[in-house]
Amino acid sequence: LKFLILFSLFSSVLFAAQKTVKNEYDIKFNPNKYVSKETEINGQKIKYRAYENIVYVKNPVDKEYQNMNIYIPEEYFNNLSIGNYNSNNAPIFFPNTVGGYMPGKADTVGLSRDGKANSLTYALSKGYVVAAPGARGRTLTDNKGNYTGKAPAAIVDLKAAVRYLYLNDEIMPGDANKIISNGTSAGGALSALLGATGNSEDYLPYLKEIGAADTRDDIFAVSAYCPITNLENADSAYEWMYNGVNSYSRMEFTRNTTAEEYNDRTLTHSTVQGNLTEDEIKISNRLKTLFPVYLNSLKLTDDGGNLLTLDKNGNGTFKTYLAIIIRNSANKALREGKDISQFKKAFTIENNKVVAVNLDIYTHIGDRMKSPPAFDSIDSSSGENSLFGDEKSNSKHFTKFSFDIANKDAIEYFRTGKFNDKNNKIVVPKLADKNIIKMMNPMNYIDNNTSTKYWRIRHGAIDKDTSLAIPTILALKLKNSGKIVDFFAPWGQGHGGDYDLEELFNWIDNVVK
Ligand code: DHB
Repeated sequence: LKFLILFSLFSSVLFAAQKTVKNEYDIKFNPNKYVSKETEINGQKIKYRAYENIVYVKNPVDKEYQNMNIYIPEEYFNNLSIGNYNSNNAPIFFPNTVGGYMPGKADTVGLSRDGKANSLTYALSKGYVVAAPGARGRTLTDNKGNYTGKAPAAIVDLKAAVRYLYLNDEIMPGDANKIISNGTSAGGALSALLGATGNSEDYLPYLKEIGAADTRDDIFAVSAYCPITNLENADSAYEWMYNGVNSYSRMEFTRNTTAEEYNDRTLTHSTVQGNLTEDEIKISNRLKTLFPVYLNSLKLTDDGGNLLTLDKNGNGTFKTYLAIIIRNSANKALREGKDISQFKKAFTIENNKVVAVNLDIYTHIGDRMKSPPAFDSIDSSSGENSLFGDEKSNSKHFTKFSFDIANKDAIEYFRTGKFNDKNNKIVVPKLADKNIIKMMNPMNYIDNNTSTKYWRIRHGAIDKDTSLAIPTILALKLKNSGKIVDFFAPWGQGHGGDYDLEELFNWIDNVVK
């Protein structure tokens, strides 16, 4: 009997092992499996080889998303160069399509939403190899209805795609030591996170689970447009900036908005407008006071080494620093002949130059976009709440602040039977695992030696999806850790990305030299 049990155990183990091996995807790049394609940009013809839908892990959870499109200029198969680049040294442009922390499909060479050549086409024309990764996101489920794309899935996938590029560096044209990540909004946040967390051990168990290549995942440079990042501190940053603005105006997105609809910026969504409730104003007043405590804890300094701080009323050198960012933006706009009159009451203008900005006036022109708390909503209904769900629960809190209020509301409901929530519903509040919250915030990893050295961060001067303080803090923390950072707030620019591809690629060309 003993023998029989042993034998059956052994054979089932053997069977399981075979099955895994059989079902595994091959993550070796096959140079012969491509389609020749052609496109053009400003009359210039581009011939390239398209390697599409390459699953980049051995054991994908969702192969619709855990795959990558690789595009390589035809020149590199004929021993030719494009500018300074050739098959050995061409940088690899790595754009993700994640928006709203939804799943993002691998991008293709083509046109962008405004009808111009997209970043992939642009990259090819400049002689870059393009590796466009897909990544899982917060709304994905498997056939049993379990969630498969909650945090940290998206960052784990991007890392796995980077690992594929290192694994195949020898057989693939392009240099895996020169990977430049690009993304917008949630995708910008993931791009920054990818740069900050290179080779961090925290992600290894997740990488192992999906069968990622056993190699490196650090990258060379980060491009991040309007990163919706540092989520645990974004609520207080938002209220520090917009407290007192009691009317909001935003596009309507719902839980049922699909990834395709969300990412399709040509679709118009209806605008919702309204005023903050008394409870929301109270929440804003409380959140606002938390921000100086956080900001001061970072001990950030400006380029001159001066400490950037805030007093308990939210005033101080950090605020002046933001005013200077806006001043520089407005002055560039003036030099380019752009109209800045909408904001002139916030500016002191001398000789056609903005010499001072009153940040309070500037931020209080127009409505706010988000109601407090802007990210960790009390009823756990935000996209970010959904990001922090798990296999079985759609959403969770990720700040103690909102979790505590939600708990109090729930207790009150069970005590009195009365709803204290505007949606007349009570969700039993859950708080996300602190390690997962940590893994989604680049601020926790920047001191790490393997964080990327080169950073380009953009946040539009009229973008209200997150406070300007958030990308500014990221940029400062990076600079203070010795990284090379190009940070700017383009005038008149709202929430978006890839709007300055020529400048972006000039910047990349410079840093890869
Ligand atoms: C995005 C926008 C948001 O306002 C947000 O909270 C998260 C993500 C986005 O466009 O990706």
